[in-house]
Amino acid sequence: MEKIIDETLQGQSLVKEINEKNTKKLYIESYGCQMNFSDSEIVASILAKNGYNTTSSLEDADLVLVNTCSIREKAEQTVRKRLEKFNAVKKQNQDMKVGVLGCMAERLKHKFLEEEKIVDLVVGPDAYKDLPNLLEEVESGQNAVNVILSKEETYGDITPVRLQSNGVSAFVSITRGCDNMCTFCVVPFTRGRERSRDPQSILEEVNDLWAKGFKEVTLLGQNVDSYLWYGGGLKKDFKNATPMQKATSVNFANLLDMVAKAQPRMRIRFSTSNPQDMTLDVIESMAKHENICNYIHLPVQSGSNTVLKAMNRLHTREEYFTLIDNIRKLIPDCGISQDMIAGFPGETEEDHQDTLTLMEYVKYDFGFMFAYSERPGTMAARKLEDDIPLNVKKRRLQEIIALQQRHSLYRTQQHLGKVEEVLIEKESKKSKDHWAGRNTQNTMVVFPKENYKIGDFVMVKITDCTSATLLGEAVSG
Ligand code: SAH
Ligand code: F3S
Repeated sequence: MEKIIDETLQGQSLVKEINEKNTKKLYIESYGCQMNFSDSEIVASILAKNGYNTTSSLEDADLVLVNTCSIREKAEQTVRKRLEKFNAVKKQNQDMKVGVLGCMAERLKHKFLEEEKIVDLVVGPDAYKDLPNLLEEVESGQNAVNVILSKEETYGDITPVRLQSNGVSAFVSITRGCDNMCTFCVVPFTRGRERSRDPQSILEEVNDLWAKGFKEVTLLGQNVDSYLWYGGGLKKDFKNATPMQKATSVNFANLLDMVAKAQPRMRIRFSTSNPQDMTLDVIESMAKHENICNYIHLPVQSGSNTVLKAMNRLHTREEYFTLIDNIRKLIPDCGISQDMIAGFPGETEEDHQDTLTLMEYVKYDFGFMFAYSERPGTMAARKLEDDIPLNVKKRRLQEIIALQQRHSLYRTQQHLGKVEEVLIEKESKKSKDHWAGRNTQNTMVVFPKENYKIGDFVMVKITDCTSATLLGEAVSG
């Protein structure tokens, strides 16, 4: 164990060595999905080779980058507020440059420069390798924009700089973009067509993380179950692949097998699954490998067949139940979480009731619940009227949240008295005498520190719970 911690430190000092030659300071802030946080680590890595060290102090920065989210209107408003703050700082530091990355950059393109005078640089999710060139343009006093989406870019050859990492768990991206075209969703427009990363480069990254002392990876994609490697190229072009490429292709279940076998002591998680693409062989692969965590984030958005159809979610309520039944059959103690949208255009009270009864059936461990927010350019924005009044959206959302809270408590109570393996990630937010880490189902467990340390796997007896957290004590041996 000691040796692994040594290796972690070595890994960190290595990163530092490379960076010591750097003279400029990069401050980077990320909003939205895990993919954005992971992308910021790629950006930090690209800029580390081009003169920039990261700093946690906004005031000291030569370059401020904000990795943005467009998923709901509120996410965009948050970023606009941050730009106001950056503006105030820039008044003290005229040389500071400000760049916008991510989904808002892709959605607004050049318009960003007009709308927000403070912005010098606009870079979309597939153009980060162009950052050094774009920064040269900015240095010479021009604004710079690159929002070209790619058919190939997966950043597979870049080793991310682990920003604010606890040294225990890390994200590894496996697909980029999304082809699903859910009618409410802006992601296919901002992140482009779906492409998968070479499994060899994924394995190399996972092996490297293990060597540096990491104990858990989360394989990331907008839609991981749709992962398909056949030598490069877009998912939608697989039909034109050669017979050889088809025969040697790697799907998500194969990839899980490969990663689980390559590092049998590494915990493996993944996110996000779309029910329409999740196949039985993925669940079988999870059941087969002890080190793949028993947890699936399985957004459904609505329990009504009419709404699912209008959302272009390509499964029915009944098919979703079959999937849940299969998961429970093969992995009886699997944690399952949801995303829900309240107040999609045309949603009736009956549709809303369908959502509540679907939740009753599944009794999710936890969930992420939102009021529908119309996004410009999406099919729903173009074809459907955003006709559910805000107060109705909010009331339905509240009912969904209240029900989820009941189910979350029901689920945490099922853990009482059990002894579960926990990977220590950090100090508990509420007490410096306690550690916090997650069990296999992804539920937070808090317990007294004793002599354990971050990165340890500990068997913990669960003695108490709230709806969100399990409390317990380490059992020796
Ligand atoms: N497949 C993606 C989903 C991205 S969006 C993933 O990897 O998580 C995350 C969640 O945001 C969606 O599941 C959906 O519940 C919610 N969402 C997306 N677009 C939305 C919109 N226009 N209004 C409200 N919620 C939305
Ligand atoms: Fe968005 Fe649907 Fe893809 S929610 S990210 S279009 S799976």
